[in-house]
Amino acid sequence: MIKPEGVERGLIGEIIGRFERKGFKIVALKLSKISRETAEKQYEEHRGKDFFENLVSYISSAPTVAMVIEGENAIATAREMAGATNPKLAKPATIRGDYGIDVQRNIIHASDSEEAAKREIALHFGNVYIE
Ligand code: RTP
Ligand code: MG
Repeated sequence: MIKPEGVERGLIGEIIGRFERKGFKIVALKLSKISRETAEKQYEEHRGKDFFENLVSYISSAPTVAMVIEGENAIATAREMAGATNPKLAKPATIRGDYGIDVQRNIIHASDSEEAAKREIALHFGNVYIE
């Protein structure tokens, strides 16, 4: 998911392009302003943490781009391409390393496991893409 910061800064094409050029296939794509309820479900694992409230408010505050990418080792590779959570620590040539500064406005979210990917795809796209 491209977070509001990435959409506002005009980085949609750049970010999608990185996944395309890497060799992944974009099989679903959706620009929308997600509801607070959907944001809470996406970040359910962080409920109760000090940043949860700010995170769900932020992610539901302006349009995001959700996408499903397909390809070998897609989940781990997408996380590598995203870079470290805190963009200040993220390496150059990663998405966060190249475009971010703030930990909350860190440009992109990437599912961290097969289970999370399935859950998040269902949340944003319904069950169409779940095998
Ligand atoms: P994401 O879920 O968005 O792909 O990011 P991640 O796995 O790299 O990091 P995670 O630990 O899952 O955190 C989710 C998002 O919460 C925000 N965050 N803020 N200390 C803080 O203020 C803090 N820590 C995390 C970030 O936006 C992070 O991407
Ligand atoms: Mg995470």
